Amino acid sequence: MTASEHDNRPRRSALYLPASNAKAIVKARTLPCDMVVLDLEDAVAPEAKEEARTAAIAAIAEGGFGHRQVAIRVNGLDTEWGAADLAAIAASRADAVLVPKVNSPEDIARYDAALSDAAPQMQLWTMIETCESVGNLPAIAAMARTTRLSLWIMGTNDLAKEMRAQLTPCRTPFLPFLAMAVAAARTHGLTILDGVCNEFRDLAVFEAEARQGLMFGFDGKSLIHPAQIEPCNAVFSPSETDLAWAHGVIEAFTLPENQGKGAIRVDGKMTELLHLEQARRLVEVHGLIQGMK
Ligand code: COA
Ligand code: MG
Repeated sequence: MTASEHDNRPRRSALYLPASNAKAIVKARTLPCDMVVLDLEDAVAPEAKEEARTAAIAAIAEGGFGHRQVAIRVNGLDTEWGAADLAAIAASRADAVLVPKVNSPEDIARYDAALSDAAPQMQLWTMIETCESVGNLPAIAAMARTTRLSLWIMGTNDLAKEMRAQLTPCRTPFLPFLAMAVAAARTHGLTILDGVCNEFRDLAVFEAEARQGLMFGFDGKSLIHPAQIEPCNAVFSPSETDLAWAHGVIEAFTLPENQGKGAIRVDGKMTELLHLEQARRLVEVHGLIQGMK
């Protein structure tokens, strides 16, 4: 994989499932999501934690997830299960560990150290879901330069709980954080996924929320139910309109009269070399998505 393929790899849809749900694990191997997150944390009751850890590790050893990246979400190191979760996953072939409730760059260093014996390709992903982390976004993101940190997922349910804010479909109280998190992630080359939509029976609500995430610049969205995958992939894939625009821009910049120019007119709009870069990226992402079919 080239560096650019790595950066642009489709990460449109990340499906969570409780690692204690054996049926859901079997099902996840056939679903069209780009990523699977086997959860040991919020979706698993305290009395099922050990069993869920064993099931998650066994699922990774068994494999069968194909092109899907597989992460395990651990319990925090400040809980009675966290250290054992991390030790078990460090010794596994999971693609990533997803860590909840990080607050600071020091937390990232702590989790990175807990993975010191893990395979070099194992990534550290974190939730952004505490009030404290919202104040530390640039410093946390900067840890991507020196640690395994490579991806963030917004945890809007936990943020709502901590803030005592209301998580309505328009998500007004969270919009400043969503934008700040995307900007911090982009500064340091992190992939960033939007939070879950709890309304899994209402796909119109889901789609509107996914489109809002796309507008904010997210690479994809975290999901809780298989029915959300197809609409999510559709929203986060370049559309036909996007591709027509991209090809138009690429073509326009190859015309002899546009050689050596930084800004040109395409379809009556100012188009600059920065748009050419955006256009090339869209075409590359489209090609990678087509290659997955
Ligand atoms: N991953 C894989 N399969 C799933 C799934 C998931 N997240 N959610 C549901 N399914 C499966 C069910 O096992 C069921 O399979 P079956 O038809 O073979 O029996 C099928 O999809 C339909 O499920 P459905 O009846 O619509 O949902 P439910 O009422 O049983 O469960 C939830 C609803 C929300 C409890 C369930 O979707 C879930 O556990 N989601 C993930 C929660 C989670 O991980 N949260 C942590 C992060 S926020
Ligand atoms: Mg949570």
